[in-house]
Formats: sequence, C-alpha cells, structure tokens
Amino acid sequence: MPTLFDPIQLGAVLCPNRIVMAPLTRGRATREHVPTELMAEYYRQRAGAGLIVTEATGMSRQGLGWPFAPGIWTEEQREAWKPVVEAVHEAGGRIFCQLWHMGRVVHPSFLGGEAPVSASATTAPYKAHTYEGRQLYAEARPLRLDEISGLLDDYARAAAYAIAAGFDGVQLHAANGYLIDQFLRDGTNLRDDDYGGSVENRIRLLVEATRAIADRVGPERTAVRLSPNSETQGCEDSDPEALFTAAASALAELGIAFLELREPGPEGTFGKSDVPPVGPAIRNVFPGPLILNSDFNLERAEAALEEERADAISFGRPFISNPDLPARLRGGIELAPDAMATWYSQGPEGYTDYPEAEVVAA
Ligand SMILES: Cc1cc2nc3c(=O)[nH]c(=O)nc-3n(C[C@H](O)[C@H](O)[C@H](O)COP(=O)(O)O)c2cc1C
Repeated sequence: MPTLFDPIQLGAVLCPNRIVMAPLTRGRATREHVPTELMAEYYRQRAGAGLIVTEATGMSRQGLGWPFAPGIWTEEQREAWKPVVEAVHEAGGRIFCQLWHMGRVVHPSFLGGEAPVSASATTAPYKAHTYEGRQLYAEARPLRLDEISGLLDDYARAAAYAIAAGFDGVQLHAANGYLIDQFLRDGTNLRDDDYGGSVENRIRLLVEATRAIADRVGPERTAVRLSPNSETQGCEDSDPEALFTAAASALAELGIAFLELREPGPEGTFGKSDVPPVGPAIRNVFPGPLILNSDFNLERAEAALEEERADAISFGRPFISNPDLPARLRGGIELAPDAMATWYSQGPEGYTDYPEAEVVAA
C-alpha cells in the first residue's frame, strides 16, 4: 500500500508525495484582487507539498467578495500570478489554481451595490467580511437561465488564464456553501427549471462548469472540490449521500484529474459534522484519484491510505504554520500551531514568517 511519501499521478501531474496543500484563503492580494510578491514567497515556501492548491481565486468580478483575495479574470491578475507560479516551480513544486464563484455570499459592497447571484432568492446567515468590516448578507437574485452560458464562459476563461499563467491545473471550488454548492443542495436551490428539483438537475451546473473548464484546459488538468457532509454557510441538503454520489459519478465520466472531499472528522476542531462522511460511498462510484481533507494528522492520514479510503490527503491549517509540512511529517517532527488572528490579516506576519523545522532546531 502506498504511504504519504510515495508519488502519485494526479491527471497530467506527477506528484512526489501524497501530501497536498489544501486551498487556504489568506487575503494578501491587493485591494483590486491582484496577486503580490509576498504571495510568491508564501507559496514558494510550501513547494515541498506533493501538490499545492491555491487559495480560492475569483473567476469573475461577480464571483468575488472577499477582501484582498486574488482573482484571475483580468489580464493584470493573470500576469501577476506568473511570478507566483514560477516561484513554486523553481522550488520544485506543482500548483493548481482554485476557481471561486461565491454566489450569494458576495456582499453587495463588492458589486457596486447590486445583489449577488445564487440558485434562488435566499440570504446567507452570519455576516460577510467586507472592506467596511463585517456586514449582514443581502438576499441573492436567482441566476437567470440566459446567464448560465456567460457564467460557463467565465469559468473557462479563468481556467485558460490559469494555464497561461503557468499553473499545472485548476480546481473548481464546488464546496463550502459557495455558488456551485448553492445549486447542489436542496436547502438553497428552490428552482423549478432544469437546474433545480431532482438530483440530476441540481448537479447540472457542477457538471456543465466542470465540462466547460475541461474542454478548455483538458480533463487531466481539471479537478473539483466538494464538501458533502457538512452544513456550511447555511447550505444544507436533505440527502447528502444521494446527491454527492450522483455528483461524483457524473464527474468520473468527465475523467477529471482528481476529486477532493472536505468532510470534518468526528473529532473535527474546525466544523464538526453529525452526518457520517459520504467519502466511502463516493469512493465506490469515483474510480479516479480521491483526496480527503479535514482534521488529518500523520496517523489518521496514513490509516486512510492504508485502508484505501483515499489516494492522497490534503492538509489546511497545518500548512499555514508548517511550510515544510511533508518534511516534518516524514521526520516525526512536532508541528507548530497556527494563529487564527493572522489567517486573513495583511502583511508577512503569520504568513511568511513561520520557520522551517531545521531553523527552529538550529
Ligand atoms: C484560513 C482558512 C482559509 C480557507 N480557505 C479556503 C479556500 O479558499 N478554499 C477552500 O476550498 N477551503 C478553504 N478552507 C478550508 C481548508 O481548505 C480545509 O478544508 C480546512 O482547513 C480543514 O482542513 P484542516 O483540518 O487540514 O485544516 C480554509 C480554511 C482556513 C482555516
């Protein structure tokens, strides 16, 4: 059985280990959502990952509502990603860009006062991060049928820009209560057209967006992230297993590079779930590479590979504070804790100033 330290082929990309860096929003781009030199340094430090998946990256103006998060819908953003990708490649790493449309959780202040779009006219709970502090979400406007082809074009263009910037592939963000997830789940999708109602209809946008991306950059450079079992940002489904196994089967037919699942473990410290993981059912219908996420440590990760529940494991918070995470896991070196206060702050503190283990030991 392979271990975390064995190579794996993920679509077009050969990864030297099975320790994937999970997508992590860090808010170090410019106010206009352009990647920065600091980001190049941050990702370069983490190039020891088998594969890096970038922080969620806006695929259109309409899709992005997070302060200082990067985008990839303008030529300026595309060009500014080049040194980031180059830094990772020069350090021997591989990197996919996570494509993000936030749907109803884009606050109107990012849209010149306009309402965000979603599957249906719903309002997200809690409060948005905005440039003017935390603010209540606004009711979304249901996406019109005649807007869908433009949305798919936006996904395809962002994917093409990512490849032009040098990325090894892209990951469609279909998890965590954002636009695609809002279409997937019957708690937020109240439509009665071809994109709502039955499971087949609710997975339609996911499948069409994945296909639009894969047609543009190749299925072997296209990945998808889902978060089947947990309620996130008010997004829930009455039967996650039926929904997400259908979604995974459809994605399998498209021959994508890999599928990543974010499901909190029973001891989850970051979002617990009282619904059992759908991962095992998905494993039965998705024959391609499957990456599992949330709350893994070395022991749990090795067990998941050993028991063939996953082909690779992605780590989120551990990569924030341990840039050399694969080396630490291999050497049994204690992991440094991360600090929530600097998750989304600006500047290098809590971002590029976590030392490597050798530096700590010296
Ligand atoms: C600061 C922070 C930012 C995150 N940003 C993203 C993101 O941009 N895209 C995404 O799909 N998940 C995001 N997540 C979720 C992580 O990818 C991951 O699922 C979560 O941290 C659980 O994995 P872990 O237990 O290994 O940390 C974020 C999590 C944290 C803590």
